[in-house]
Amino acid sequence: MSKADIIVGIQWGDEGKGRVVDLYTKDYDVVARFGGGDNAGHQIKVGDTELALRIVPSGVLNPRAELFIGGGTVVNPQGLLDELDRLAAIGIDTSRVKISDRAHVVLPYHAAADRANERARGANAIGTTGRGIGPAYADKVARTGITFADFAQPTVLADKVRMNRSARETLLEGETLPSEEEIVASIREAAARLSSHVVDGVAYLHGKLENDKRVLIEGAQGALLDVGYGTYPYVTGSHTIAGGACTGLGIGPTAIGRVIGVVKAYCTRVGGGPFPSELLDATGEALRAAGGEFGTVTGRPRRCGWFDAQAGRYAVRLNGLTSLVVTKLDVLSGFERLGIVTGYRLGASAVDFGAAGSPGLEVELEWLEGWSEPLGDVRSIGALPPAARRYVARIEELLSTPVELVSVGRERTQLAR
Ligand code: GDP
Ligand code: IMO
Ligand code: MG
Repeated sequence: MSKADIIVGIQWGDEGKGRVVDLYTKDYDVVARFGGGDNAGHQIKVGDTELALRIVPSGVLNPRAELFIGGGTVVNPQGLLDELDRLAAIGIDTSRVKISDRAHVVLPYHAAADRANERARGANAIGTTGRGIGPAYADKVARTGITFADFAQPTVLADKVRMNRSARETLLEGETLPSEEEIVASIREAAARLSSHVVDGVAYLHGKLENDKRVLIEGAQGALLDVGYGTYPYVTGSHTIAGGACTGLGIGPTAIGRVIGVVKAYCTRVGGGPFPSELLDATGEALRAAGGEFGTVTGRPRRCGWFDAQAGRYAVRLNGLTSLVVTKLDVLSGFERLGIVTGYRLGASAVDFGAAGSPGLEVELEWLEGWSEPLGDVRSIGALPPAARRYVARIEELLSTPVELVSVGRERTQLAR
């Protein structure tokens, strides 16, 4: 029986998980997503090929790997079909994509409810991706959701669509929506096209593990967006931490091997909510420009700030990380000095990440010397400029977790080990 390894983001998403999964995927037979939906945007660049994946796992460029969309996800069938078509158009064999029968279906009324909820929150809007993720998880928990298993049962499907839409009649006033009949017809069409991909998700994944297949589990979003442990309510609708991999795939903690945390060398966040190390000045803008920090899904400029070790330590605990991969270190070349947040204070008291949204929160900053050399051609951690080496060593020390890889560019070769 093999153990599954997990790769998760440990900040507010967009750490470079897609790129890291692509690097590791050659050693695995199955790459599995356990949560989220097409709110995720995972970019991979290999030579001239640039992929922006939303729901299909980032192992697609390993032609041997099967790609499994687990039961903890919420999937927009039309979005998935479009993504499969885009992949097929560049010669990728999409018959390798499997969807758990337990995954939930995202429909047009979920996106409309997402928009209506955001409008109702006014100045406190979460800044969601507008994909209907929260409302789809809300239906799941309310036990009215539609699963991929329901696809095989046309009457159940039609009844559930009717019930879900009418339950939201008031909320959806003013939204233009397809009629119930149109929704049902479009799902039936999508269901027919997706039927060959739908599997019994529990039997599928356990069959792989029992046959000693190597399984890599790919996180979406990041620990600080976790619905239970992130900066609630400014979070996504699912458990993004490593524990979510167990519930999202129907496996126990004993089935897990390594837990690798992907961490950007600085911090970014898209949407609203607390961000203690945020830089609202020219330095923040310089980070955004150097790192190309614009959302993959919505194109929004990402908020930028210094590396936050207090948040990092919190995420290490939540995930039980065994190692770290640091990404985008190359982006920091040219900054004269670099800040790292080492702690939070409320008045005279030191406080933990749980207080991140408290009014009056102050951060403790440590300054490290910067470096000017470009890093894109460096291939070993030992060959980094001394200041960059010290920066990585400080992250390792503050998070008490070994760094196994440093990413210094977008290409597969741009790695320092
Ligand atoms: P994900 O959501 O965690 O998969 O991350 P995104 O794909 O949304 O955002 C990360 C972006 O940074 C992508 O465009 C990657 O190609 C890019 N990227 C990843 N690692 C590096 C790196 O080490 N250096 C640079 N310059 N870009 C990187
Ligand atoms: P990847 O996988 C960054 C953020 C949204 C918003 C909040 C809730 O690419 O790292 P939602 O639509 O999920 O209800 O929005 O979560 N968010 C992400 N931010 N990267 C992501 O995914 C995100 N997925 C959701 O911006 O603040
Ligand atoms: Mg992303």
